Amino acid sequence: MSDFTHGFWPIYISVITVASIVGTWVFLRSQTTRKLAPGEKPELMEHTWDGDLRDLNNPLPRWWLGLFYGTLVFAVAYLLLWPGLGNFAGVLGWTSSNAYEAEVKAAEAKFQPVYAGFMKQDIASVAADPEARAIGRNLFLTYCSQCHGSDATGARGFPNLTDHDWLYGGDPDTIVATLTGGRSGIMPALGEALGPQGTKEVANHVLSLSGRKHDAALAAAGKVKFAENCAACHMPDGTGMQALGAPNLTDKVWLYGGSEATIIETVTKGRNGVMPAMTQTLGTTSNKEAKLHLLAAYVYGLSQKQ
Ligand code: HEC
Ligand code: HEC
Repeated sequence: MSDFTHGFWPIYISVITVASIVGTWVFLRSQTTRKLAPGEKPELMEHTWDGDLRDLNNPLPRWWLGLFYGTLVFAVAYLLLWPGLGNFAGVLGWTSSNAYEAEVKAAEAKFQPVYAGFMKQDIASVAADPEARAIGRNLFLTYCSQCHGSDATGARGFPNLTDHDWLYGGDPDTIVATLTGGRSGIMPALGEALGPQGTKEVANHVLSLSGRKHDAALAAAGKVKFAENCAACHMPDGTGMQALGAPNLTDKVWLYGGSEATIIETVTKGRNGVMPAMTQTLGTTSNKEAKLHLLAAYVYGLSQKQ
């Protein structure tokens, strides 16, 4: 494959390259063929500096010339073997992309047996293996940490994976399903349906669910609205529904935040947290299935330790 956009440039470059190599060789020859005849004195050039610093026309030392010719031989050999001369691909047929592919293949071959061993074990056993956890951690840092943080404790809108609180579930199969298919939590915007007062009331009811400071009268009014508008997903008692990824509102763990203002914002505008599917996060990387297995085990292990 050529990176040149026009057929003229490879020729232009080749002509300049060849001309400079040949030109250098001719120049070196022209400067070195003259040898001193026996008894001949080196010619004194017509200038003298600093009183006694004279310029003699001696032939260049042999070793020095050898180096010069060496660079020419190197240049010719290089241009024959590797790409460099216009469109000529070089005798070895080297390209950066096939060099990269070869490296990937070598790495794959190296890891394949290791991965294959882990593929035979279930998630819980893999999670207990320190070597697997070390690999899982590296994979997590590569593919997941930009959203969940390098310590997997998450951030606003990105769940903490080290606690026992799960949006979708923390058993091995559910974690695998989360990674494979991705997740999209859909909390509808209900601000218009509830109005500002209704939203404030329902938010105070949500505050009361986890024992936060709230206005009792507002919360009581909100309880009815919660049953009508929210219970279908968050359950009547507010403990959430993992099938939908609707968070438990009675615990002290918040995905977006548990202040009155944040809850009002959540209810008014809705939320849509998206966990990308494996096809996106792992792309076309090699050993994709094994990586998913190791990542799921790593995530599973994170919450098992405590
Ligand atoms: C682009 C950001 C992003 C990346 C990359 C990402 N995640 Fe997520 N992940 C999320 C979001 C956002 C959620 C919450 C989805 C929701 O709100 O419904 C989530 C949810 C999860 C859950 C479900 C947690 C629960 O409580 O049920 C798991 C498990 C998970 N991610 C693991 C991973 C792993 C492992 C990787 C790397 C392979 C990864 N994530 C990469 C954004 C990301
Ligand atoms: C269609 C189902 C559905 C309905 C109806 C619904 N929710 Fe949600 N809610 C969700 C989902 C799913 C999420 C998680 C969003 C995400 O993952 O980004 C959520 C998130 C939330 C959060 C954020 C919790 C946190 O940890 O930060 C609050 C608060 C909340 N809902 C309150 C309510 C209230 C109050 C109502 C009723 C007025 C309501 N929801 C109605 C599905 C629903």
